[in-house]
Amino acid sequence: MKPVKIAKDIYDVGVNDWNIRDFHGYTTDHGTSYNAFLILDKKTVLIDTVKADFADQLIDNISKIIDPKKIDYVVSNHTEMDHSGGLPRVMHKIGEEKPLFCSKMGQKNLSRHFRQKWNYHPVENGEELSLGSRTITFLETRMLHWPDSMFSYLKEDKILFSSDAFGQHYAGQEKFDDMIGEAVMPHAKKYFANILLLYSPLILKLVEQVTNLKLEFNMICPDHGVLWRKDPGKIINAYINWSRQEAKNKAVVIYDTMWHSTEKMAEAIVAGLSEHGVEAKPMHLRKWNRSDIMTEVLDAKAIIVGSPTLNNGLFPTVSDFLTYMKGLKPKNKIGAAFGSYGWSGESVNLIKTELESMGIEIIDPGVKVQYVPDDQSMEACIELGKKTGKAITG
Ligand code: FEO
Repeated sequence: MKPVKIAKDIYDVGVNDWNIRDFHGYTTDHGTSYNAFLILDKKTVLIDTVKADFADQLIDNISKIIDPKKIDYVVSNHTEMDHSGGLPRVMHKIGEEKPLFCSKMGQKNLSRHFRQKWNYHPVENGEELSLGSRTITFLETRMLHWPDSMFSYLKEDKILFSSDAFGQHYAGQEKFDDMIGEAVMPHAKKYFANILLLYSPLILKLVEQVTNLKLEFNMICPDHGVLWRKDPGKIINAYINWSRQEAKNKAVVIYDTMWHSTEKMAEAIVAGLSEHGVEAKPMHLRKWNRSDIMTEVLDAKAIIVGSPTLNNGLFPTVSDFLTYMKGLKPKNKIGAAFGSYGWSGESVNLIKTELESMGIEIIDPGVKVQYVPDDQSMEACIELGKKTGKAITG
């Protein structure tokens, strides 16, 4: 990716990672980008870096605009290594003595990552840094999504450098929301569902704080994907809605199957839901990645989970998904369980216990089928779908 001018004297000097398909377990079908921003003023500042493998590309991009040695300050909004991995290379290139601005937790975390005695300048929430004609205000956003996370707000230009927030795992030639249109929203939704959902209460609090500060945004520049310049309010409103976790008339039927019995049950449950006009689909855990299923969970009211009983327990992919979903703390959901078994049949109760531990309201005892579902069992699954549909639509 060439440097992209995003405003007068401000450039995105980051890189596209076109071929990444697995971002620690999150499928990135369209790759991702690691955005980094260069602001030229009386003082020149670099905001964030890139993954270590791409550090040379970052330096090349900077060199197309200025001699990297002319960078006066570096800002690290977030220490996760997709944004900090390039720091050792950058600091070596521009001069190890250059001031490095980060949050207090950022200093601790960078020290633990890189064991370097850089010239750290830990900043307070609201602290300002003058670049000459421009000013950066640092906004602490602790736990959004790491303890070190912060935003940098360029006051005069009204540009928010938002680190991971408002990002999307998307590599493309389009660098701005107006170039890609609505196609960006599924990527933003997936990113929220898999990375930020558990921090929903903090996001709502942050939005309130920003509203009280009366901050205006001409542009929001996340560290991944496209930048929001046409309508920054669109992604802010989407974050508010997703954080409120207001569900649609929608159910997700998540399952795995050994000999198609639990699969047949899943399809019958979906048929029952459809009879009630509820949007629903069966999602097989070895056909869908957990990150795509979680995206569907975000705005679903009902989560119905099915597993065969294997060795007196859950099928491993079902355990995997339940562990993953539990960590992301979905709220305001109802749920139920189903599954086939041969001789012991623990899976349904195990699923219900897990769903209950997440605060999901169990609305039915669930359906258990020995070996292969007969007509009566299939009818019970359809009834479970209908009952769930009724609970969703009221
Ligand atoms: Fe894109 Fe939390 O790193």
